[in-house]
Amino acid sequence: MIVGVECTAHTFGVGIVKNAKILVNVRDMYRTETGGIIPIECAKHHTDVANRVFESALAQAKQDKGDIKAIALSNAPGLAPCLLAGLRFAKGIAKELDIPIIPVNHCVAHLEIGRSAGAKDQVLLYTSGANTQIIAFASGKYRIFGETLDIGIGNLLDKFARHTGMGFPGGPRIEEYAKKGKYVELPYAIKGMDVSFSGIQTRLQQLYAKGESIEDLCFALQETAFAMLIEAAERAMAHTGKKELVLGGGVACNARLQEMCRMMCEDRKASFSCPDKSLLVDNGAMIAYTGEIMFKAGIKKKAEDVDILPRERTDDVKVTWR
Ligand code: ATP
Ligand code: FE2
Repeated sequence: MIVGVECTAHTFGVGIVKNAKILVNVRDMYRTETGGIIPIECAKHHTDVANRVFESALAQAKQDKGDIKAIALSNAPGLAPCLLAGLRFAKGIAKELDIPIIPVNHCVAHLEIGRSAGAKDQVLLYTSGANTQIIAFASGKYRIFGETLDIGIGNLLDKFARHTGMGFPGGPRIEEYAKKGKYVELPYAIKGMDVSFSGIQTRLQQLYAKGESIEDLCFALQETAFAMLIEAAERAMAHTGKKELVLGGGVACNARLQEMCRMMCEDRKASFSCPDKSLLVDNGAMIAYTGEIMFKAGIKKKAEDVDILPRERTDDVKVTWR
């Protein structure tokens, strides 16, 4: 039994996995009514809820502490204060139970859980708050074929939401408004497989100041930014000859983005998959799931040897378990 702890940003989560089966996935998210994440406040949130989330996960899964083989911890990448809060908590448990820690890269966990639906050799479209990457596995690493040149797609949504007073997280609220909107033209910036969102952000703010309706802006934002992602993903599939697309990360919760992926894949006779919502947004189960795969490949560390790596990239990680 592996317990996974997620702590990299807004969410403190604990998941429990046994033989690739998710027994439980408990999360507590730091939210705001207005404004974005304040890292120190968010870290305090994690420390406050950690024990309760952990105990509740064990109780819901009807498991005993003594059966935990290792703690998988999302030690990278993320907000340093949040990572430290998680590290302190994981070390406490590891020392108490005398078990090792498996350091898991958060982005790699989004990818591994995306693959859990059964795709064999896929292109991964990773769309989350801080990251937007088009990825395929080659020569022992998750290679980045294309990515955002500035902010992540989720951050674009969250920034616009913050600007217009919607609070955090912005994605779900924008999705609701978009249902009643119509198209307005926004900058469409893609070079090869790289995308850029800052022009969209500026234009949205200008149009909002001019009194353009929030519904139309939300609709146009989704249609334009998502179309760029689909174009980049399709180009990666064409170049690599891969026939499977997996969508992952928190923004993948968006029904319109899923629909656009599905349409593109149907057109090129490729398959498309996307995990359940509870596994798309940050969660402890994806950390436990990835941790178990790594553990079985012999990857584990003594608690005192684990540190946080706030800036570790997806393609820094040697994927020795594939
Ligand atoms: P990263 O994985 O890059 O470190 P993160 O952990 O902050 O970033 P996730 O939890 O994977 O990101 O995703 C959070 C993002 O998902 C937020 O930007 C949020 O607005 C967005 N999001 C959540 N639900 C939806 C939705 N229905 N439509 C669009 N975006 C959404
Ligand atoms: Fe994430």
